[in-house]
Amino acid sequence: MTDQELVELAFTMLERSYVPYSHFPVGAALECADGTVFTGCNVENAAYGSSICAERTALVKAVSGGHRDDFTRIAVVGNSTEPCWPCGACRQMLYEFAPGLTVLVAQRDHSFVKLPLSELLTHGFGPKSLG
Ligand code: THU
Repeated sequence: MTDQELVELAFTMLERSYVPYSHFPVGAALECADGTVFTGCNVENAAYGSSICAERTALVKAVSGGHRDDFTRIAVVGNSTEPCWPCGACRQMLYEFAPGLTVLVAQRDHSFVKLPLSELLTHGFGPKSLG
């Protein structure tokens, strides 16, 4: 699958987003080495802090589906005029399982930036940090 195809898969998730509070839909598509893709969207809650981001939705679907150490790329997309950068909590959660992950960050016009997670979370704290 090309990078753009993974981005387009993430875009299909925008319509599933539950965003009555922020009105800011986000979609994600997380790819595994065997080609399996887990998609996600943000799901908000009246107790705002209980909301979950699109990337973490995709990640928990993947981990609960039996994947852990085989993540290759994630696409994160938003309806924004700037790239929809992953929040800090999502960067941390992704780093736990895939410090070498490639991240594709897209905006409304479907263009995207490609960069390693290690650039989004430098000197990250992960399982190895516990020594
Ligand atoms: N959001 C995500 O889904 N992913 C991110 O990495 C950034 C923020 C969601 C959370 C909330 O539902 C909305 O975007 C506005 O912050």
